[in-house]
Amino acid sequence: MLDELERTLFDEERIRTRIADMGRQIARDYREDKLLLIGVLKGAFIFLADLVRAISIPVGIDFVGVSSYGTHTKSTGVVRIVKDLDAPIAGNNVLVVEDIVDTGLTLSYLATLFRERGPKSLRICTFLDKPERREIPLAVDYVGFTIPNEFVVGYGLDYNGRYRNLPIVATLKPSVYSKS
Ligand code: IMP
Repeated sequence: MLDELERTLFDEERIRTRIADMGRQIARDYREDKLLLIGVLKGAFIFLADLVRAISIPVGIDFVGVSSYGTHTKSTGVVRIVKDLDAPIAGNNVLVVEDIVDTGLTLSYLATLFRERGPKSLRICTFLDKPERREIPLAVDYVGFTIPNEFVVGYGLDYNGRYRNLPIVATLKPSVYSKS
């Protein structure tokens, strides 16, 4: 798997340090209030697992499963909910946790859907952000790292279902794309 990588963007140490900062900031921002984290499956499972352990206040956790139509490198904005939340979110301070914001279509769809359910507040937290690719305006409240317009894998992010278990964030060699 490692010989298919082109360039490391963030190694384990860099990721750990950044997430510790994010966790501290989130704990500070919500210290007076209850917080419900909603992880967007599948990509956010690793980020959410590390982020919650960096947050020192009590939190609730739920997951939403989405599958976006389109190819692996281009999302169409048509989002299908494959697993809805387990519980109502009305009256909760909701923080939606995503792996990466690319066009913004997925999160913009989810934010609209969740706002209709009457949360007390709703914010967005993403591990990675690719602002150059945005097709729809989206206010992102917490960003781990801003990256250029490059397809990346690892730390939950996949290419055709692979590389999610890579502990770093990296780009792939062009030969990997031509194989599939
Ligand atoms: P958006 O709706 O275009 O913002 O797409 C968000 C989704 O596209 C993410 O949750 C990822 O599943 C996928 N995605 C976008 N860019 C990348 C990338 O560089 N690597 C892996 N997945 C990506």
